[in-house]
Parts: sequence; structure tokens; C-alpha cells
Amino acid sequence: MASADAIRSHYDIGNEFYRLWLDDEMIYSGALWDGPDNASDPGSGPVDTLDRAQARKVDWFSDRLDLHPDASLLDIGCGWGGLLRRVVASGRCRQATGLTLSLEQAELATARLTAGDRAGAGGVVTFEVESWEDHRPPEPYDAVVSIGAFEHFAPPGLSTTERRARYAAFFAAAYDLLAPGRRLGLQTIALDNAVEDASSPVGTFFTGEIFPESSPPRIADVVETSDEWFSLRHVRIDPGHYARTCREWRRRLLANRSQAIALIGTERFAAYSKYLLLSEMQFSSGAATLGRFIFERRTHLLGRRPGRH
Ligand SMILES: C[S@@+](CC[C@H](N)C(=O)[O-])C[C@H]1O[C@@H](n2cnc3c(N)ncnc32)[C@H](O)[C@@H]1O
Repeated sequence: MASADAIRSHYDIGNEFYRLWLDDEMIYSGALWDGPDNASDPGSGPVDTLDRAQARKVDWFSDRLDLHPDASLLDIGCGWGGLLRRVVASGRCRQATGLTLSLEQAELATARLTAGDRAGAGGVVTFEVESWEDHRPPEPYDAVVSIGAFEHFAPPGLSTTERRARYAAFFAAAYDLLAPGRRLGLQTIALDNAVEDASSPVGTFFTGEIFPESSPPRIADVVETSDEWFSLRHVRIDPGHYARTCREWRRRLLANRSQAIALIGTERFAAYSKYLLLSEMQFSSGAATLGRFIFERRTHLLGRRPGRH
């Protein structure tokens, strides 16, 4: 598990910096694009936008979480709160809680809540600086979602068994956080099995300069470690969507180069530009992929693995 300090070294470098290159809702995970990326050939049809593609991703998850107007929803790794704001504004749930380890994210997410987000029927969107390991709600949630946080749940350099024990602990916790039969949405980057994690030059750059104490799982880790507690209902494998998201983020970062350098300095700007380019290349080459999963909490545990039960 990446420590709070490691998480903050990435996410707490200034909200204004992230605002320069993320979409308006500041969603920081692979989007869901519609149609081909034909920006270089505008004559061939309408081009999707990052804002629309991020909203579409949020809707893909919320359409499959069996939400209802009275539902409660937990977002583990809520970032700047864009998903919860959109879901609550659409009337698909009543009570929403977001967890992040980033102080700056929680502060801005809370500041961005409008009166409507706080009002309706008891009206509740709250953001907490807390890890899912410590979260003990008074009642289980009707749905849980976690997008782009799973990559932080195991550090690099672990054996497959050690890594899977970390992920199993997450799924056991998600099981406890959900009411019976309810759903968990999960999106994560995953490395191809042919890729070494931390020891490659790219891995060393990512863990050394961009995401300390973090390393993405393999798709098989997700499928196998969830199985004790959840049945898998939907899955999408979308590397091209993340490659396009990184390309668009980097285009926007470079377009705002001087402001970005003023905010974070030349060295860090160069590191971010390199990280977004390398990420795009990893998704395009097959070294990394993107998994989107919808799970349903089992009524009866399979009883094959030791967990919290
Ligand atoms: C890449 S951001 C994704 C944010 C958001 N889900 C989105 O799609 O925009 C990863 C998020 O995971 C959070 N995170 C990482 N480890 C966590 C943990 N143990 N408990 C709660 N949040 C965590 C970070 O604080 C950050 O908000």
C-alpha cells in the first residue's frame, strides 16, 4: 500500500497545476472515448472531447452499479470528486462519500460542492482524507466504486503471492463495505505479464519520480483475488482509451507549458511530460492495458481463501 506521504508527493503538488491539463471536472483516470481519434482530419466527422469522454466513463460505471435515488455510494480514491458530483447531480444516489489520501484533493472537492450537492433529501456528499483500510461506516453502502486507485494498493518488488495478498485485502474490505448482492465498480491500469514491474528503466522512472511505492497489478491479479468475494458481471479492456487520454493530457500540458513551469518548475514539468508520453506508449504497445470491471458481492463466500471472514 502506498503511504499517505507517497500519495501526497504526487497529488499534492498544486491543484492549479492539475487544472491546467485535466478536464473541467478534473478526472484523473482513463476516459471512455466515442469514435476514432480523427483530430488530424477534422473533415471526417465530429471529434470527441476529453470532458465528454470522462463524463461517459462516469456514466458507464454508474449505469451498472444498480443505483437508485435513495442509494448510498462510496468512491474509494475519489480524486477531486468529479464522479460523485456527477452521480449525485443526476439524482442517482442520495448519500455519497469520497475517500482520498490527498489533502489538496479533499479540500478542493469539498469547496466545489454546490448547495444542491449538500441539500436534497438529507443531502449528502462528503469527502474524507482516509484510507479504505480505516473506513468504518455506520451502515454498508449500496454501491462502491474505485477508479484509478488500485494501482496504489501494492508497492513494486513484491512476489505474486505477496502482491495478491494486498489485493485480496482490498476485496475483503470492499465486501464488508457493501450490502449483500450490491455492486463494486473498479477501473485499474494493468501491466502485461511479459513486463517486469519496478526493475525496468520505465518502471524505475515511474516508481522513482512519478508514483512512489506504487505498481499496477496484472489483469489476472484482479480476476483471481476478487473471486472469493465477488462475481464478475461486466469487463472492458480498453488500452486504446487510456493511450488517447494520455495523448490529450500531454497535448494540454504542453499547450500550457509556461504556466505549468511557473507552478511546478522545469524539472518536474519535464518529468510529467515524459510520464504522459511513456504511458501513452505503454498502452499503445501492449505493455500496459486498462481494465474496467463491475463485480457483484457474493451472497455466500466461496470459502477458498483466508480473508477477513
Ligand atoms: C489517479 S487518482 C484517481 C482519482 C479519481 N478516481 C478519478 O478517476 O479522477 C487516485 C486516487 O486514489 C487515492 N488513493 C490512493 N490510495 C488510497 C487509499 N489507500 N485509500 C483511499 N484513497 C486512495 C488518491 O488519493 C487519489 O485520489
